[in-house]
Amino acid sequence: MDYTVLGRTGLKVSIMGVGCGGPSRVGKGTRKSKEDSIALIRHALDSGINIIDTAELYRTESIVGEAIKGYDRESLIISTKKSLFGSLSPKSVERSFDKSLKSLDTDYIDIYHLHAVLPENYEKVISKTMPTLQKLRDEGKIRFFGITEMFNDDPQHTMLQKALKDDYWDVMMVGFNILNQSARERVFPETMKKNIGTLIMFPVRLALSRPERLKQIIDELIEKGELDSSDIDMKNPLDFLNHEGGAVNSVDAAYRFCNYEPGADVILSGTGDIDHLKANIESFSRPPLPDEDVLKLKKIFQNVDSVSGQ
Ligand SMILES: NC(=O)c1ccc[n+]([C@@H]2O[C@H](COP(=O)([O-])OP(=O)(O)OC[C@H]3O[C@@H](n4cnc5c(N)ncnc54)[C@H](OP(=O)(O)O)[C@@H]3O)[C@@H](O)[C@H]2O)c1
Repeated sequence: MDYTVLGRTGLKVSIMGVGCGGPSRVGKGTRKSKEDSIALIRHALDSGINIIDTAELYRTESIVGEAIKGYDRESLIISTKKSLFGSLSPKSVERSFDKSLKSLDTDYIDIYHLHAVLPENYEKVISKTMPTLQKLRDEGKIRFFGITEMFNDDPQHTMLQKALKDDYWDVMMVGFNILNQSARERVFPETMKKNIGTLIMFPVRLALSRPERLKQIIDELIEKGELDSSDIDMKNPLDFLNHEGGAVNSVDAAYRFCNYEPGADVILSGTGDIDHLKANIESFSRPPLPDEDVLKLKKIFQNVDSVSGQ
C-alpha cells in the first residue's frame, strides 16, 4: 500500500480508504453478517490501509469500533460525520458526537465532517454547528474538520465552491469518477492551493460496477447533449479500456483513474465483499491507465457535470 499526506492535516494516510457507507456499508447494506464486515475491515487494515470513513447515518460506526479493537488507535485515521437531519442545537450536536465516540469506542475523532451539506443550507448549518465543533476541537476530541457534499443532488460541486471560500476545512470529501470529472476544474485547483486534504467518494458506485446502469446513464447523457454519441461505442462504452497493459475491468479502471488524478489524495473504496476488497487493493498497486486511455476518457466525458454515477 502506498501512502500520501492528507493536505494541511499532515496525516500520513493510505491512498485507499475503507468506505463504510455507499450501497454496501461494508456488508450491512448487502446482508452480510457483522462478523463478515469486521473481517473485511480487519483485512483492509492488515493490508496497510489506515483510514476508515464512516458516519452516524450509516449505522456502521459500531462495526468499525469492534473491528479496530486490538489495533494501535494512534496508527489509524477515523473519519466520521454529523448527520444534518433533525435538530442542530449545541446539545444535539454534542449528543451525536458523543454517540459516535461511544459506537467507535474511542475518545477522539481524527476527521469530523458535516455530512452531505446542500448549497442552500451551507450558511445555516455552519452558523449552527461550528461553535460546538470548535469547542470539541479545543477539548481535543476532534483533530480536524471536514465537509462532504451531496453528490447526487449537487454534482456540480456548488456547495464545495462556497466552502472553499471559508477557512474552516482541513478536509473535503469530493465526488469524482470517470463519468463526472468536473472536480478537476471546480474543486481540486483550490483544495491544492489551500492545502485542503481530499477524500474521494463515488469512484465506482453503480455506473462503473453494473454495465446495465452505465448504459442507462450514457443514454441519458447523450439525450442531454453532454456526450457525443460518435465518441462512444454504445454497446460497450468502456470496453476500449480493457486491453493488454490497460485496465483489468471497469472497476479497476475506475480506481486507477481516480488514484492518479492530481488533487485526489485518498480514494474511498466501498464494498461488502472480501473478494472485491482484495481485487480493489490490487488495483491500487497498479500503474496509471495508459495515457491514451486517460486522454480518451477526459475527451469523452469533458462536458459531463449532471450525474454522480449512482
Ligand atoms: N456524502 C457523503 O458523505 C458520502 C456519499 C457517498 C459515499 N461516501 C463515502 O465514500 C465511500 C465510497 O463510496 P462508495 O461506497 O459509493 O464506493 P464505490 O467504491 O464508489 O462503489 C461502491 C459500489 O461498487 C461495488 N464494488 C466495489 N468494488 C467492486 C468490485 N471489485 N467489483 C464489483 N463491484 C464492486 C460495491 O458493491 P459490493 O459490495 O458488491 O462490492 C458497491 O456497490 C462510502 O463508502 C462512504 O464512506 C460519502
